Formats: sequence, C-alpha cells, structure tokens
Amino acid sequence: SSDTISFYTASPRALVAVNSRGFIDWIEHDVQASQVQRVLKHKINELGLGMVQVILLELEEGEFLMPGFVDTHTHAPQVPNIGTGQEYELLDWLDKVTFPMESRFADEELAQKLYPSIVNRFINAGTTTCCYYGSLHLESTKVLADVVNQSGQRAFIGKCCMDRNSPDNYREPSAAYSIKATIQLVAYIRALKNTLVQPILTPRFAISCTDELLTSLGNLAAADPTLPIQTHISENQSEIEFVKELFPDCTSYADVYHKHGLLGPRTILAHGVHLTEEELILIKTTGAGISHCPTSNFNLRSGMARVADMLDHGIKVGLGTDVSGGYSTSMLTAIQHASMCAKMVALLPPPSTIMPVPGAQFSGKQLNIANLLYLATRGGARLCNLEHCIGSLEPGKSFDALLVTMKPEGGHLDELHTYPTLPPNTQIDRERLEHNLERFLFCGDDRNISKVFVQGRCIGGTAFKARSFSAD
Ligand code: GUN
Ligand code: FE
Repeated sequence: SSDTISFYTASPRALVAVNSRGFIDWIEHDVQASQVQRVLKHKINELGLGMVQVILLELEEGEFLMPGFVDTHTHAPQVPNIGTGQEYELLDWLDKVTFPMESRFADEELAQKLYPSIVNRFINAGTTTCCYYGSLHLESTKVLADVVNQSGQRAFIGKCCMDRNSPDNYREPSAAYSIKATIQLVAYIRALKNTLVQPILTPRFAISCTDELLTSLGNLAAADPTLPIQTHISENQSEIEFVKELFPDCTSYADVYHKHGLLGPRTILAHGVHLTEEELILIKTTGAGISHCPTSNFNLRSGMARVADMLDHGIKVGLGTDVSGGYSTSMLTAIQHASMCAKMVALLPPPSTIMPVPGAQFSGKQLNIANLLYLATRGGARLCNLEHCIGSLEPGKSFDALLVTMKPEGGHLDELHTYPTLPPNTQIDRERLEHNLERFLFCGDDRNISKVFVQGRCIGGTAFKARSFSAD
C-alpha cells in the first residue's frame, strides 16, 4: 500500500498507529519495548498493508502523549493586551482597554504583523483546536483565517458582530452591514477548503447587538444548520442588569438568545457565571453548552462559575482561556484555575436558587484530575460538536495530540519525583504516568510541550521550533 503509517509509542507502553490522512488507525495497549517490532510486524501482516514507512517515535522516561487542548473561547486581537487593565471589571475593561485595542485591527497590516505570532503562541501552548473571536473587521479577520489556515491548527473563526453600545470607531453602522460582512467571512473561510478551519457566527454579547442584528443572525443560523454560534452570557452583575434593561420582554439573559433563535446544540456560551436554575434548564433543553473561563472570571472579578451544577444538569462544558480577560494563552492556566474555582465553590453554601439534581455527582465537590483533563480536551470537543473526531486518542479519531516532556533533569526538586528504574510493570508505569500528568497540568508550561500534532501533522512545540530555527 502507498499509505504511510506513523507509529507513536504511547502511554503506558502502547503503540498508536496514525495513517497518512492523520487519523488513528489502531492502538495496541501494553506493548513492552522488546515486543514493539513483533507487534508491528503482526499488525502490518494482519491489516495487509504490505510495505509501509514506519516512523518510530521512542518515548523516553517522563515523556507521554495526550490529546491536544481544545480552547473553546478566546479573542485573538486581545493578545497584545495581556497584562493591561487588570484593575477593571467587565464593562469598564471593555471600554477602557479592549475596544481601543480591537479597533486598531481596522488596519489590516497590523493584523498581518501580529496574527502569526499570536496563533503560534496558542499552538505552542498545546491548543490543537481553538475557538477564536476576531475583531469586528472583515478584512483583518480574513487575515486571521489565512494565518490559522497556514498554521495547520484546527479552529473556529468568527468576526464580532456588534452594532450598539460601543464607541463610534468600534461599532458596525447597522445590522445589515454586520450581516453582510459575516456572510462574506463565512464564504471566505469555506473557500479555503480546509476542513480544519470553520466559520462561526459571533454576536459579541446581547449588549453589543440590536434586536435586529440578533434576529438576522438567528435567521442565518436557521438557514444553515452547519454554522455554529459563539457568544458571551451572564458573566458580570452589571452586564446582566444592562441586558435586562435592553431586553425587558425577555425573562432571562439566556432567554434573549433563545428568543432570537441563537440557543441550540451548535451554541457555545462563554462564562455563565451567574446563571439561574431556569437558565440552566433552558440551556440543557436547547442543547447549548458552556465555555468555562475561570482565569478571566477571577481576573475581571466576575465571579466563580458553578461548573458542578452545569455538569449535574447534563450541560456540555469545555474550558476557555478568554484572553485577555484571562491573562494566559495556555489552557494549563485555565485548568489550574478551573481546579481552584471548583474548590472554592465547593466551600460555599449551596445557593437557594439552584435546586439539587437527583443523583448529582459533582455538586459540592472539587474537580479531580480526570475531570479537569476531560474539560480541557474531550469536554471541549463535545462542546464544539467534534467529539466524533477529536478530544481523545482512539481509533478512527484524528491524531490531535501533544508530546509532553516531564523529564527529571531540570532541578533538584524534580529529582525527588523520579521513580526508580524498575522492570517493566504496568502498575508502576501507570502511577508514573499519572504523576507526570498531574505535574504537567499544575506546574508545566509550553517548555514541556515538545510536539503539537493536528491531524497527524506536527505543527508546533519546542522540538518543532528547534527544527524550524535550524532550517533557517
Ligand atoms: N463580553 C463581551 N465582550 C467580551 C470580551 O471581549 N471578553 C469578555 N471576557 N467578555 C466579553
Ligand atoms: Fe470573551
């Protein structure tokens, strides 16, 4: 066969076969080093593949493979603002630092200059799938789409739709104008013919959108069942009050989106910090899901989202970095803050407004490592309706993965964590793996990510950077 198959030894002691189209063909578990060649031969004969090119990626101690991160909510044009305006809450922060920065992306050259390094930053942080908000500008968001297209990252890209309640220089002149630009962006992204990169409708949030704009976006979504939707919901108390004033006929913030046809299985709602019981039920019933953005929620003093209640209500939940409300492009930071947020929420008395769900598994508890890993990978994949294709390493799914290196060298503290070299033993391997995974999630960073794979292709990581520098 002309198929090129790459084999990656995975954790603990598995073989992962990735075909030339970037899908995982098969996984063989519990393969000892001495058995690798035999298992490969057997597999190749069994599958009748004939001559294949075999690339063997030997994992060293402290290295492991894991699914890539799915960042379900972030703003590309806000990356230059990281570390500014930390003293504000949401609405002032938007006015004083965010809209001024985003408005600069009216300049397409600025987009061309900044977006490549911005996208690389997300990739090297281990984000294999990213839900990006651009600015409101059509041309600059096309540049973002081009950059992501060339990078090899999997992504959803939308331009912000916003026709009220922002400065004159950062507001679209009418709903019709916003819709026209949105339709052009959707067509542009689809014309790239890259199945990894998809358009997404992006009403910024209820405050930024007139009734007419929300209605037209709802009509667009209804006319095209493949278009996903992303927006913000119930992040901050002042925001919620303002939404109530703007939409007096709606019973809740969630109801605003529902009444405009924007709440459904394709909808990703960021934050949801102050959702009521009624809203949780509406979100669950419509099949929408929530992007939990704890770094941003702490940083803008928005509050602590009740993720356990969302999960107990059966709502889809993923994690988002929400740069630059969140100050880090890394999903590791989001994981750490999701953990701390859940711990603090579990300390609070249960609110009288949210009824306990029968058989609740999560309420009153912190999130464990498996829960956190799920939210950052498979939960995000499910939220984006990509669970059939990404979020875990399984035959039939795309090979979107990270090669992580938690080597013991690097300081005397790390030496305390090394396991003695013992004969191959699945139990010890498993313990070592779990130990290294937890250390990576809580004290790792992009220096620990050697390779970032999307659809079988290495597109980032420290080893990739080293190679591209030496090639220059
Ligand atoms: N609500 C509306 N726009 C934004 C934004 O850019 N960031 C955050 N965190 N919330 C928003
Ligand atoms: Fe946001």
